Amino acid sequence: MVVGRLRSEVRKQLGENEHEADWIISHVTGMAQSDFVLHPREVTDEELRAIEDIIVRRNSGEPLQYILGHTEFMGMTFKVNELTLIPRQDTETLVENVVSKIGKKKVRVLDIGTGSGCVGISIARFCKNAEVTLLDYSDAILAVAKENAELNGVQVKTMRCDILEEIPEGQYDVIVSNPPYIETDTIFSLDNIVKSYEPVEALDGGFDGLMFYRRISEEVAGEILCENGIIAYEIGYNQGEDVSEILREADFSNIKVIRDASDNDRVVMARFKPALFGF
Ligand SMILES: C[S@@+](CC[C@H](N)C(=O)[O-])C[C@H]1O[C@@H](n2cnc3c(N)ncnc32)[C@H](O)[C@@H]1O
Repeated sequence: MVVGRLRSEVRKQLGENEHEADWIISHVTGMAQSDFVLHPREVTDEELRAIEDIIVRRNSGEPLQYILGHTEFMGMTFKVNELTLIPRQDTETLVENVVSKIGKKKVRVLDIGTGSGCVGISIARFCKNAEVTLLDYSDAILAVAKENAELNGVQVKTMRCDILEEIPEGQYDVIVSNPPYIETDTIFSLDNIVKSYEPVEALDGGFDGLMFYRRISEEVAGEILCENGIIAYEIGYNQGEDVSEILREADFSNIKVIRDASDNDRVVMARFKPALFGF
């Protein structure tokens, strides 16, 4: 079958996910999407079988990013597997704000709950003078983050640490985190796809979704964040006020809630105690 006819066939079979057809065909055939029109060719039987397998998995609800094993974030490719959350476009708001805050400054950055490493690795990529440490609670997750750092050509450190139980080593100028922030009860009413494929440990923020913000702001930051350092969190659309209040109570100032491209509250940034000098 020629690739042009295959496209319409795959689109039809994918139903509501028809926009993923080109991504799948390109992944299996190795052809650039522009070549589907410019340099079309016959697709082999083996390629057809591989595409059919992907369609079956996709139509049973498995996210395409897990099937293909990678996704795009901040214009870079990140490997993902069942241990890591699929990076969301919303999270680019967090990265963009931290990158613009850091600029060319020489800073030490800790990415708490790094998963695929998408946040910390993007910061390392765009802020050449940032020394970035990626933290998560398991070595298997950190192995994915390390692979992604190599894939994207950045140098980072990694640290295994259960942030709810331990205090990370080191001193930092910036703490950035997209922690689990969904209320425990809500997880079990979430869209089935998220519930059955993405790791619950990446989502569960405790009974009110705020457990990680409290722990990091109240008990961790004081030990590892420099005076006048910056904290930047991704938050749920309805958590702006609660997270701001937690930060205010924990001696942070200049607290700002920032909206994402869909106009939802998405990021909270703050400075650790009023300071006499900048970082
Ligand atoms: C919402 S995901 C964010 C992943 C990634 N930073 C991103 O933005 O796509 C939260 C991350 O926190 C990690 N995590 C959960 N509990 C943790 C804990 N107790 N200590 C350290 N990391 C934890 C999860 O493994 C997961 O990678």
